[in-house]
Amino acid sequence: MAILVTGGAGYIGSHACVELLEAGYEVVVVDNFYNSKPVVLERIREITGKDFKFYEEDCCNEVAMDRIFDENKIDAVIHFAGYKAVGESVLQPIKYYENNIGSTIALIKSMQRHECFKIAFSSSATVYGVPEYSPVPETFPLSAVNPYGTTKLYIEHILGDVYTSDPRWSIALLRYFNPIGAHKSGLIGENPNDIPNNLMPYITKVAAKELPILHVFGNDYNTKDGTGVRDYIHVVDLAKGHIAALRKILETTGIEAYNLGTGKGYSVLEIVENFKRVNNIDVPYQIDPRRPGDIDEYFADPTKAKVELGFECELGIEEMCRDSWHFIEEEKKREL
Ligand code: WQD
Repeated sequence: MAILVTGGAGYIGSHACVELLEAGYEVVVVDNFYNSKPVVLERIREITGKDFKFYEEDCCNEVAMDRIFDENKIDAVIHFAGYKAVGESVLQPIKYYENNIGSTIALIKSMQRHECFKIAFSSSATVYGVPEYSPVPETFPLSAVNPYGTTKLYIEHILGDVYTSDPRWSIALLRYFNPIGAHKSGLIGENPNDIPNNLMPYITKVAAKELPILHVFGNDYNTKDGTGVRDYIHVVDLAKGHIAALRKILETTGIEAYNLGTGKGYSVLEIVENFKRVNNIDVPYQIDPRRPGDIDEYFADPTKAKVELGFECELGIEEMCRDSWHFIEEEKKREL
């Protein structure tokens, strides 16, 4: 029973590969290293002690995708591959539409040609647009506030139409909230090469003294301490949520969306203070104006995943902060 993982060398994809291999699945990875590094594949093998096939290909390449399905008996696909920088998507929308939607269409066509009808799609809580209240259930109205979010929304609609056209399909739309943290081994995690857009990778670069200070984008929001509140989910919990969704799609047909979040909201300053306390390290910060497009707060209603997938998060904010920093410390040692 082989599971194809697109984008399996990426931050979330690599953690999912670890959980898949440890759960006993045969794994096939395809990645073009646009936002990942080949060394991650070795780290996955080191963590699990298991091997897997790898194809360095672009998922937009239908011929390449057909070759993967010709050479492997793929029972299901977990589709992570895609661009994910919100700011970049605003500046280069066509790049995002062409890649994120184009790769998904190429993948679906190849799956159809090979009678593989089971897919878990890496969607995002961003499809809720600007939620009026939290916690946010899957029944919330969907909208998009940037081209990145629009690609996720459009792909959800495309997959819905694919199921309507052929009820043999089994599709899980996994709406991630804010993934942070790293595998406890310190071998895989998140360490962007460029200046990070997201909070936790920015915090770790400030803690590592690679960046001078954290800019807190606004403290005048209608939240507990005025800073933005989000639902942070440990990336290992997120990966386990994919295993739970995979079990469901392997057993059934249909299409369902699931929130993958903790159901708890933490403010920016709470994250900073937890990170400093847990790691006994300073993170200097200053309050800046709000970042355009940000909202006060949102966090998941995780009930549906618990009831239908038997999934709930186990790791808390302390593990998220500790594991995020442990990975960076280990990376530094490896660079010496
Ligand atoms: C979190 C909080 C910021 C950086 C984004 C995408 C979303 C999803 C997750 C893919 C906010 C504040 C941040 C900084 C700060 N990605 N912040 N200083 O914006 O909730 O969601 O990542 O699916 O699609 O939009 O995450 O980590 O950027 O911000 O104060 O340097 O931290 O204002 O309140 P966000 P984030």
